[in-house]
Amino acid sequence: MTIANNSVTFIANGVGNDIQHGHKRRLSYVDGFGTRAIHVGSEPNPTTGAVIPAISLSTTYKQDGVGNHKGYEYSRSGNPNRNALETTLASLETGGAFALAFSSGSAVTATIVQAIGPNSHVVSMNDVYGGTFRYFKRVATETQGLETTFVDLENADDNTILASFRDNTKLIWIESPTNPTLRIVDIPRIVSLARSHPSRPLVVVDNTFLSPFYQSPLVLGADIVVHSLTKYINGHSDVVMGAAILPPQHAHLVEKLRFLQNAHGAVPSPYDSWLAQRGLKTLHLRMKAHGINALKVARALERSHHVEAVLYPGLASHPFNHLAYSSLSPHAKKFVDRLRSIGDEDGLNPDTEGGFPYGGMVSFRIRGGAVEADKFLTALRLFTLAESLGGVESLAELPAQMTHGGIPEKERALLGIGDNLIRLSVGVEEAEDLVRDIEQALQYARSSESRSLSD
Ligand SMILES: Cc1ncc(COP(=O)(O)O)c(C=O)c1O
Repeated sequence: MTIANNSVTFIANGVGNDIQHGHKRRLSYVDGFGTRAIHVGSEPNPTTGAVIPAISLSTTYKQDGVGNHKGYEYSRSGNPNRNALETTLASLETGGAFALAFSSGSAVTATIVQAIGPNSHVVSMNDVYGGTFRYFKRVATETQGLETTFVDLENADDNTILASFRDNTKLIWIESPTNPTLRIVDIPRIVSLARSHPSRPLVVVDNTFLSPFYQSPLVLGADIVVHSLTKYINGHSDVVMGAAILPPQHAHLVEKLRFLQNAHGAVPSPYDSWLAQRGLKTLHLRMKAHGINALKVARALERSHHVEAVLYPGLASHPFNHLAYSSLSPHAKKFVDRLRSIGDEDGLNPDTEGGFPYGGMVSFRIRGGAVEADKFLTALRLFTLAESLGGVESLAELPAQMTHGGIPEKERALLGIGDNLIRLSVGVEEAEDLVRDIEQALQYARSSESRSLSD
């Protein structure tokens, strides 16, 4: 069983080899985010002293008598590496007590939707990840009679949102910021609307884009946080995995999800779990660097006359910049406030005009259309033209034809996903190099030379 918390007492049960000793370690204060990332779920092996957990490949575990085992029976239902990762995740997603790791973010979505049972209704942000939309509309509708109402939870007023709730509304599915237009949702507002309705739907937040570093939805009142670990949490573009994290009051729901996790068997391998935990140890360092670089790139785009609009909620000019600031986790707020207090000294503050780092994703509309977007994407030297996000390396893509190509054109247009919308996953390379790369590609895409080539 994976239980961890951020509170005063940290109980190291279920963590690798520690389970056989069942020892308790008392901490006199709550460790900071980065300290938890490195230490929770990663204690030195009590037998060998190994500082880094071993990869436990065994699929089965010796029992000393029938049913008398050391916490593990069969690797689908529990594995030391998966449990260790779950312990770290439960600790880092502030407000969490339980975490369940899956073989992908999509498997997490499927499991949560299956847990709400047949003939249920979901209210979903209208701009969710395409795979989430696909599961709601093309899988769960058929297999469990699910009905989904898509609502613009960023702009709709309280009455409109309440009017979308039904007696059988079991979930409200939020993604914030959204992919790829980085729209943001006021999570506490949606939580209070959910609590006010007799159907008492659970509020789920897909926190993939900001990671547990920038946003703590459980602290804002959400019931479940989901992540595609494939992105920032693993951070190195070499693992596909997902996780759900729940607060202490949802132990019963955790049992249900864990039952489904084992029954479906959509579990991650020990090696992937080990890799994701290794990646997670530097999440705080990477997220700060992603945020600073993204803000610098967003500012450079904002200055360019080749750009029609920049979508980055951390920019002072973004219409929801205040909401973005209020949604920051306590640890991110500390980081942002400190950066802002530095002012212009030593060039450490990436934006002295009021912007702040808010994750590593930046979208923008290039002047022109599909031709200019294509020219830009193929002229990039450091940003790789590829789907996915959240790795240390910078990526760029064209949502209308790549990640969101499956959404009908009319719906894409309504969501603002046009042919000139480009999404950047800003990595942790040197910011100056990334800005130079963007500037030269913009220049090329909009030059008369490249325009005549494309005519
Ligand atoms: C916001 C978001 N949620 C969920 C997923 C699904 O995760 P996975 O690809 O790990 O199945 C993705 C994938 O891109 C995503 O971007």
